[in-house]
This record gives sequence, C-alpha cells and structure tokens, in this order.
Amino acid sequence: MSSLDTKTRGRTSRGRLRALDAYLCHRERELLTRQDGPWARAAFVDVGFGEHPWTTLESAEAFRALHPGLPVIGVELDAERARAAGAHADAHTHFRQGGFELPLGADEPARVVRAMNLLRQGPPERVPEVHQTLARYLLPGGLLVEGSADPTGSVLTAHLLRRGPGPVDAPPVREALLFHTDFTQGFAPLLFRDWLPRDLRRRVRPGEPIQAFFSEWVEAWREARARGHDAPPDAFREAALRLATRTEGLEDDPWLWDQGFLLWRPPGGVSV
Ligand SMILES: C[S@@+](CC[C@H](N)C(=O)[O-])C[C@H]1O[C@@H](n2cnc3c(N)ncnc32)[C@H](O)[C@@H]1O
Repeated sequence: MSSLDTKTRGRTSRGRLRALDAYLCHRERELLTRQDGPWARAAFVDVGFGEHPWTTLESAEAFRALHPGLPVIGVELDAERARAAGAHADAHTHFRQGGFELPLGADEPARVVRAMNLLRQGPPERVPEVHQTLARYLLPGGLLVEGSADPTGSVLTAHLLRRGPGPVDAPPVREALLFHTDFTQGFAPLLFRDWLPRDLRRRVRPGEPIQAFFSEWVEAWREARARGHDAPPDAFREAALRLATRTEGLEDDPWLWDQGFLLWRPPGGVSV
C-alpha cells in the first residue's frame, strides 16, 4: 500500500455503473476500439471493483460489444477480494491486488482507467495526486474517470480527465464533468450535490465556479418547470437546453439529454 491508498468498504451493486458504460460506448467509441501501435495492448482498468467484480464484468461485456478482444484488468486493494474475483478471469480478463500505483506490466498500457466510489473519504487535497498517479498508466489521449454514485447508480457524477501529449507524470487535463440520473429519484439539479467527486463536494458555496454552475442550472430548471415541463426527464432536457444558452462548454448532444446525461466541458477545464 502506498501512502495514497486507504482502506474503504467494498459495497457495490450490479448495474451501478451501467449508465457510465453506455456513456463511454457512445462518446468514447474510438478510444475503446483503437488498435494501432501500443493501443493494440491497451486495457480498460477498473480500480477498486469492490467485494464482487460485477461492475468490471458488466463493463467488459459492454465494451467488448465494440472491441471483442479488449483487455480488462480489475484492481483491488483488498487481497481477498482480488483473489475471489479470480474465479471470473479469462484470457482477456484479469484481477489483481493493488492500489493507485497500479499493478500493470510495462507492456500493459491503459486506454481508460476508472476509479468510481473510491475517494469518498480522505482529504480532498490529496485528490490531484491520486489523479496524477492513475493517469501515468494511460497512453496519451487516454481517459481517467473518477467520481461517485449512489448505491444503485441512479445518480452519478464523474470527472473526465485526459492524459495529454506531455510527459508521463504531467497532471491530466480536467476535461469535463459528467452528471447522470435515471430519474428514479425525480430530478432537481441539487440532486447531484451529495454525489459530486470528492474534490468538489464541499465547494458548492458562494464564489466557487461549481456553485455558479449549479445556480445557472437551478435557474434554468425553474424556468423549465414554470413553462410546464414537469415530468423529470422533460424538465431535465428543457433545463439543459436553457442552460446551454448561458453556460459555456455545455455539450448539446441530444442523445446525452435523452439518456439523462449532462456533460460540462468548461473552457480551460474544470477548476478545483
Ligand atoms: C465502494 S467500493 C466501489 C466498488 C465499485 N468501484 C463501484 O463503484 O461500485 C470501493 C472498493 O475500492 C477498493 N479500494 C479503495 N481504495 C483503493 C485503492 N487505492 N486501490 C484499489 N482499490 C481500492 C476498496 O477495497 C473497495 O473494495
């Protein structure tokens, strides 16, 4: 264990990260399917899969619909969980014990590293170091996904961080913030506040960019409801449409809005 690794509970449930899988298949198809040069060996790495590797196996199934031979590596700090998951290993699916200093070989680069629901405790100040540590394993252009979800995955937010073309230990670019809901809890923008990534959760307060973003979103949502868009998916879509006219960097892909996703790519990146 390195000083960045801290033991956490192992709870996960089947289907919790399925929406994220669908997002990645839709928006990151090229990244998931590239096979030129080192990309031929580049894996999807799921860090901290939990007591059971259900979410890793679900992602493997989703991504392999696009890229059948995709290497998938599940990493767990808890040695017993890593050992038990080995029962689900196959020629392209591996489970290993390890922490943020990932147990990958020199010939095992990563195309996507996912670290969901790992950083709920611990000091927010350490988060950039965790991001930087995990991003080292990515090929340039590879994606680090780090965030939180409620236990069933009905509300989820994640940082999307991209490894740039620079040196391997350069901090990844804080490219975007992704929000998702399946509407089972209805919809209001502040539904996401408690599930923000660790470094943003306490920052929804005056003067912070994330607070300004939420204020605009709440305003757009109120306007949508005042005009009769009451059903949660309808209110979400209409609020997104309105928010896009006054917030820079909001992606206006109709697929995203129809599926309950909001993707915000602020110019200059997501500030801490
Ligand atoms: C709450 S579970 C999350 C499971 C799954 N990723 C999900 O989103 O549902 C967190 C798991 O991450 C593991 N974990 C915590 N810190 C870790 C680290 N630094 N490296 C690898 N695994 C870690 C814990 O042992 C635990 O099993």
